Amino acid sequence: MGSFRWLKVAILFSLLAISGGRELQAKHKDHASAYNHTLAKILVEYASAVYMSDLTELFTWTCSRCNDMTKGFEMIELIVDVQHCLQAFVGVAPDLNAIVIAFRGTQEHSIQNWIEDLFWKQLDLNYPGMPEAMVHHGFYSAYHNTTMRPGVVDAVKRAKQLYGDIGIMVTGHSMGGAMASFCALDLAVNHGGRIVQFMTFGQPRVGNAAFSSYFSEHVPNTIRVTNNHDVIPHLPPYYSYFQQKTYKHFPTEVWLYNVGFGSLVYKVEKVCDGSGEDPTCSRSVTGNSISDHMMYFDVELEADTWGSCRFVMNSGMLSYGKTDLNGNIVLSRDPAMSVLKLNTETDVF
Ligand SMILES: *[C@@H]1O[C@H](CO)[C@@H](O)[C@H](O)[C@H]1NC(C)=O
Ligand SMILES: *[C@@H]1O[C@H](CO)[C@@H](O)[C@H](O)[C@H]1NC(C)=O
Repeated sequence: MGSFRWLKVAILFSLLAISGGRELQAKHKDHASAYNHTLAKILVEYASAVYMSDLTELFTWTCSRCNDMTKGFEMIELIVDVQHCLQAFVGVAPDLNAIVIAFRGTQEHSIQNWIEDLFWKQLDLNYPGMPEAMVHHGFYSAYHNTTMRPGVVDAVKRAKQLYGDIGIMVTGHSMGGAMASFCALDLAVNHGGRIVQFMTFGQPRVGNAAFSSYFSEHVPNTIRVTNNHDVIPHLPPYYSYFQQKTYKHFPTEVWLYNVGFGSLVYKVEKVCDGSGEDPTCSRSVTGNSISDHMMYFDVELEADTWGSCRFVMNSGMLSYGKTDLNGNIVLSRDPAMSVLKLNTETDVF
């Protein structure tokens, strides 16, 4: 990693410090999202597990991150878009009595590269069916124009056939949170999905003010968790004096931060206001930390290696899957048929 790249990142951080300036607090109605700490600790484990690169362990829910509060998860579909380096899964969590959908964050570049890219993302696509709502075409396409959307929609349909009309929880970390946003909105608007809870960790902004109101209207049960000085929720930038023209977060943010000094530090979880851009939450500090982005609730949210779309899979897994012309993989199972039979040899792709 060249020091020049770090210098560029440092300059971006200083620009962010300027854009985050103080302002008068706007009036807005209180938001109805109820924050549930236990649920956050469960969903962050799903958002962490979807990063795993061993598809066999992930599919059979035997990976090192596939236990603790997510025990008993019934995988229904694991979608690996090899072409765009994206990964997501859909399954049923019996404890939550809900379908859980989780999206992995970006793996394509180094994180420093990705932060730089994020800073400059333009609002360059009209969100279909909502005249004033603008989003970035890259975020939008990662869900809408890849194997993600058909894979998720099909798996949700199958889960409902098996389990009835149970609720849906959508989660993701980082770029995975941006994709989760488009997924939740799509399921709520186009597929009659009952989104019980939408919760992301360290997600970037995805659209403008009109998009954010549209989102809140259709996916009211939304919690956007931010951690300390995590840089990603500060991106792409929001300028309070141009708020109709720039990106704007949707509510409700829950900001995790530390108070106290030395051995008396304790963690606070602050439920923020209904604006989406509460100046007393993560915007009250500079977004200058990458490490705060990688760890939420003491759960690791990153892959084994950055800048690699490598994955491993047991060759027996292919009997559960279909591969399209571009090499993208969808592994499906019917949870009613238990115990997977797998070969012992493992192939590296
Ligand atoms: C919080 O979520 C957990 C897990 O879904 C649930 O068991 C608990 O009842 C919820 N608490 C409240 C107050 O809703
Ligand atoms: C969707 O993806 C295809 C190929 O990856 C590309 O040619 C097309 O322009 C994309 N469409 C949009 C709306 O981004």
